[in-house]
Amino acid sequence: MSQYQIAVVVGSLRKDSINRKLANAIAKLAPPDFSFKQVQIGDLPLYNQDDDASPAESVKRLKGEIAASQGLLFVTAEYNRSIPGVLKNAIDHASRPYGQSVWAGKPAGVMGVSVGATGTSMAQQHLRNVLAYLDVPTVGQPEIFIQAKEGLFDDAGNIGADSRKFLQKWMDRYVAWVKKHAA
Ligand SMILES: Cc1cc2nc3c(=O)[nH]c(=O)nc-3n(C[C@H](O)[C@H](O)[C@H](O)COP(=O)(O)O)c2cc1C
Repeated sequence: MSQYQIAVVVGSLRKDSINRKLANAIAKLAPPDFSFKQVQIGDLPLYNQDDDASPAESVKRLKGEIAASQGLLFVTAEYNRSIPGVLKNAIDHASRPYGQSVWAGKPAGVMGVSVGATGTSMAQQHLRNVLAYLDVPTVGQPEIFIQAKEGLFDDAGNIGADSRKFLQKWMDRYVAWVKKHAA
């Protein structure tokens, strides 16, 4: 069994999401003692503080999966220069009730791919702001701002040759970060 289980949060619900493809492809660059599991966020209700005392099953599941993980990976789309609402909703759910956040201390990486030339940079900056507040230690460098282009993935869904070296460098750094910070 893998020693380090990573909870992957994809900031898009779209069936053919390029961010989901990136999340699948980047996981293949990890060493064998790491395993990656995408958590489901599409079935979460809209966060309502009134529900804190009786959370939905989907909320309990999300919190359980985050709590059981040794690290986090956020792979997010950019919507109108910020993170998609579905991602913020999931983050808010797992941060509550007050004092019972499951995010704190979990080492994390952030990345994203968009059709725009800025490659989700503003969404990631907003996400980093939220994660800093939630006490999530997040890899700073290298930053991964990807514009979706032909060849980003090969036919088997791996990272394409042009980006592989750079993303492998990121993965090596991420692995070291998780090992350093995992509880
Ligand atoms: C509501 C909405 C807002 C968007 N805003 C941005 C944006 O601010 N920057 C950007 O680069 N792309 C933007 N896009 C385009 C996305 O990059 C594109 O839809 C991408 O495929 C989303 O990622 P996904 O394939 O993982 O769902 C937006 C798309 C939608 C639907």
